[in-house]
Amino acid sequence: MYKSKIAGIGANVPENVITNFDLEKLMDTSNEWILERTGIHERRFITQPTGAAELALPACIKAVKNAGINKSDIDLIIVATLTPEHQCPGTSSFLQVLLELPGVPTLDIRVQCSGFIYGLSIADQFIKTGQYKNILLIGVEVQSVGLDLSTEGRDLSVLFGDGAGAAVISRSYNDSAILSTHLFGDGRYAKDLWVEAPVGYQNPRISAKMLEEGKQYPKMNGKHVFKHAIVRFPEVVRTALKANNWTIDDVDIVIPHQANQRIIEAIAKRLELPLEKVYSNIHKYGNTTAASIPLAIYDALNEGKIKNGDNVILAAFGSGFTWASAAVRW
Ligand code: ACO
Repeated sequence: MYKSKIAGIGANVPENVITNFDLEKLMDTSNEWILERTGIHERRFITQPTGAAELALPACIKAVKNAGINKSDIDLIIVATLTPEHQCPGTSSFLQVLLELPGVPTLDIRVQCSGFIYGLSIADQFIKTGQYKNILLIGVEVQSVGLDLSTEGRDLSVLFGDGAGAAVISRSYNDSAILSTHLFGDGRYAKDLWVEAPVGYQNPRISAKMLEEGKQYPKMNGKHVFKHAIVRFPEVVRTALKANNWTIDDVDIVIPHQANQRIIEAIAKRLELPLEKVYSNIHKYGNTTAASIPLAIYDALNEGKIKNGDNVILAAFGSGFTWASAAVRW
C-alpha cells in the first residue's frame, strides 16, 4: 500500500465582487441581516458566461505548478460540482479538453458541499492501491446564474458565490499524508436542500410552467439544514480524531466547508476549540459549495495558518444530506 498527500493547491475566483449592498438593490434584504445571520460581506459572481471548467482551469494550472509536476503527469481528473455547464457530459470532460489532456480519465461526482472530501477519498484509494500517482481534484461552482436573486429567493441566494479550488493528490514519499477519510450520507433529507428541475423522469425535463414556478432554483429548509449541520460537523470531526488516536489538542487547524459563519462558530463551540483554530474565509467568498474547502486551504496556506507537519482536519456537511471528514498530516 502507498500513501497519498495533497501535493499542490490552486484557486480561482471571478474578479467581480458582489457586496451585500449590491444585493440590497436586487431584493428586499440588508447588509445587517446577511452579516448577522451568515457572516458574509461579499461574494464573487461571474460576469461573462463562464462554465465551471473554464472557471476551474486557472486553479488547476496553479495546483499543478504548486505540486511541482507537469500536467502530463496527471493520471485522473475528478471534478466535484453541482453546477456543471451541461447535464451531460460532466464538467471533467470539458476541463480535460481545456487542459489538453486527451485520454486521461474524467470523473464527475455530485455530492454538493461534501464533494471535495468525497473526491479526496476517491483519489486516496486510487493512490493507495498504486493504480495512479497524481490525481487532479477540483471543486468548482458557478452558482450565481442559477440563483433566484429576487426577494422570493433571498434566504438562499445571499449565501452562495462562484469559485474554484484545485488540488493535486500525489503518492507521498515522506510524512505528509492523507491519514483517513470518512464519508456519510442520508438521502431521506434530499429535499431539504435541492434543485427540483430539470426533472429526469418527464418530457420535456423542464416546462414553461415549471420555470414560472421557479422550480429551476435551489430551495432550502434553512432551519433544518442548520440543525443537522451543527450536529454532523462536530460528529464527523470526532470520527477523524478517533480513527487517528488524536485528541482535539492534537489538531492544529480544522478547515470546515464554508457554509455559514454561524455554523462555523457552532462547530468551534461544540468541539471546544478556539475560533482561531477553525478556519474561515466565508466573509469574502460566501458559500462556494464544492469549491469552499480547497479555496479555504489555499487561503489558509497563504496566510501561514497551515505549516508543514501540521495536523489538519477537513470537514463538510451539505445537500444530500452528505457529510465527510479527512485527517491530513501536512
Ligand atoms: N434578507 C432579509 N430577510 C430575510 C432574508 C434575507 N436574505 N432571508 C430570509 N429573511 C427573513 C425571512 O423571510 C423571515 O421573515 P419573517 O420572520 O417575516 O417570516 C426572517 O428573515 C427570519 O427567517 P428565518 O428563516 O427564520 O431566518 P434564520 O434565522 O433561520 O436564518 C438562514 C436563515 C441564514 C438561512 C439560517 O436558517 C441558516 O443559517 N441555515 C443554515 C443553512 C445554510 O447555511 N445553508 C448553507 C448551504 S448548506 C451548506 O452549505 C451546509
